[in-house]
Amino acid sequence: PKVTTVDHPLVQHKLTLMRDRDTALPEFRRLLREISLLLAYEVTRHLELKTVSVETPVARADLPLLARPEPCFITILRAGNGLLDGMLDLIPAASVGHLGLYRDPATLEAVEYYYKVPGDMGERLAIVVDPMLATGHTAVAALDRLKKDGAKDISFVCLVAAPEGIEALTEAHPDIPIYTAAVDERLNEKGYIVPGLGDAGDRIFG
Ligand code: PRP
Repeated sequence: PKVTTVDHPLVQHKLTLMRDRDTALPEFRRLLREISLLLAYEVTRHLELKTVSVETPVARADLPLLARPEPCFITILRAGNGLLDGMLDLIPAASVGHLGLYRDPATLEAVEYYYKVPGDMGERLAIVVDPMLATGHTAVAALDRLKKDGAKDISFVCLVAAPEGIEALTEAHPDIPIYTAAVDERLNEKGYIVPGLGDAGDRIFG
């Protein structure tokens, strides 16, 4: 399984501040925006380049440009939107799909309530964003859905992952690279990541 832990010092520093229960909503949002830029930088590191001829003010030169259209971000509602905003600052030409999934609190199964993705998703790198990978049910359901709908090249980005979620995701979708800022210890009996950062949706949106 290709699991990349983004160990950049700024990512690690910001994540620790976000985990602190005393970090209030405005500060949490600001940190999330900043950290999402750094995660977007990492997940797009392997985008293919082509060579184009450009006339600079000084000379004509063969120079690199993205080979394909910009990536398509797929945000898993609602907490994914917190990661999306910063990533769009970095890649303003990206397209965006929305996938509404919530965890049934009793069964922890993912339940779909909204789905809308760009028609040309298959021509782009599809970057699925959701801050938390807990049991992995949400991510597995999202990837099932996107593959069925023609996404071919997909990466998954989260902020905090539980070992259980990574295992479930790599078992169901071994071809999908996972990018995370941290792999935590475990899940508790309620399905929360420990130590984690609490309920990401609540911390972003109140
Ligand atoms: C959280 C989180 C993930 C999911 C992860 O969403 O944002 O989408 O749980 O859990 P899993 O790996 O066990 O499936 P939640 O259901 O709380 O919805 P919200 O984003 O609307 O708050």
